[in-house]
Amino acid sequence: MNQIPVQQEIVKKHLDKLRIKDPGKASIREIVALINLIEEESKLKFVRMEMGVPGLPAAQVGVDAEIKALQAGVASVYPMMDGIKPLKYEASRFIKTFMNIDVDPASCIPTCGSMQGTFAALLVAGNVDQKKDTTLFLDPGFPVQKQQMTVMGHKHQSFDVFDFRGEKLREKLESYLVQGNINAMIYSNPNNPSWICFTEEELQIIGELATKYDVIVMEDLAYFGMDFRKDLYTPGKPPYQPTVAKYTENYVLFISASKIFSYAGQRAAIMAISNVLWNRQYDNLEKRFGSRPFGFTIVMQVLYALSSGITHSTQHALAAMFKAASDGEFNFIEDVKEYGRKAKIMKDLFVANGFTIVYEKDGDEPIADGFYFTIGYPGMTGGQLLENLLYYGISAITLKNTGSEKEGLRACVSHVKRDQFADLEQRLKLFNETYS
Ligand SMILES: Cc1ncc(COP(=O)(O)O)c(C=O)c1O
Repeated sequence: MNQIPVQQEIVKKHLDKLRIKDPGKASIREIVALINLIEEESKLKFVRMEMGVPGLPAAQVGVDAEIKALQAGVASVYPMMDGIKPLKYEASRFIKTFMNIDVDPASCIPTCGSMQGTFAALLVAGNVDQKKDTTLFLDPGFPVQKQQMTVMGHKHQSFDVFDFRGEKLREKLESYLVQGNINAMIYSNPNNPSWICFTEEELQIIGELATKYDVIVMEDLAYFGMDFRKDLYTPGKPPYQPTVAKYTENYVLFISASKIFSYAGQRAAIMAISNVLWNRQYDNLEKRFGSRPFGFTIVMQVLYALSSGITHSTQHALAAMFKAASDGEFNFIEDVKEYGRKAKIMKDLFVANGFTIVYEKDGDEPIADGFYFTIGYPGMTGGQLLENLLYYGISAITLKNTGSEKEGLRACVSHVKRDQFADLEQRLKLFNETYS
């Protein structure tokens, strides 16, 4: 008999309790709370794919450096607003080593996670020109960045890149930029949630149009180097992490330690502003913040007001991790390849049981296996699929939550243990027997 693992009443009861009318529209944190309650009552361990948290231990080289810094007494000392010197130097060197891009140490700024970096940069970008009052999101994307726009009261527009890959991206982007109201474009690469990676052709289009329309590109590299189709741990040699920085000078890069070094708890990232943009003067910034240069305004007006820098000891950790990586002593990419290996197995299990991969190609190439993948099931909306999978002990978030126009779910591999694969397979079989 087809035994559904979780009773309907349990799911319904907790949906009511958390006042979730439609699980398809619930936030990631709401889904987390819901599954916690269902797991507790049903005594069933879920295959949890809803939250993008690292599933690996923090990089030891960072932990050791941080302990050493604390023992040396840094906790009592305010760090410099724009970061300690060794970190700025190592961040700039890391960018040169793994991207082949020159950003001066002066414009490499530590932020309290990339979340703080994007908040500050989007705030300033939104004020460079009164006519440019809107930010453009190249979706699907990371939902919290839209929440940042809401918190700031800034306007944004977005489109799903699914149907606009390759040369088609140019016309679509231009249709927004030509309006003259866009201050910045933002995307993540590799992409959360779809794990697509923009091709060189697409990055070139984005860069060229950014220059043509004088728009700032915010390139979120939270998953730096994690396109495992190529080995990007080749210090000082190609292949490099692809970047828009090759094609425009109007860029800000965000390199987070959360996923690449499994350092999410310490909230550490680098915001690297191009040398040209760093020094660029905007009259409107003077009116709004009291200073004209883009870089100075971000650091000395906005970050100063937000948190006055980031944790002193964590800056030592970040410097040590960047240094070890650039010195060829810390292959951080090898450490996170486990996500790709797990994704391959999990994707195969889903596909073997009637699911499709929603975002499946970059140009002619199948997308990489990595931290996330996207799944759909014939005849079901993303919301229906999510709710139906809950009865089978599987959780994820809907793509609609991420600005995607596709029906389906984002699955995150990081918290699924290999010893759960057998359960996953059995539950997917049962699911497919019911719905096929
Ligand atoms: C695309 C993207 N950007 C930014 C972040 C947040 O990074 P941080 O932990 O450095 O704030 C995440 C985390 O999931 C992410 O997926």
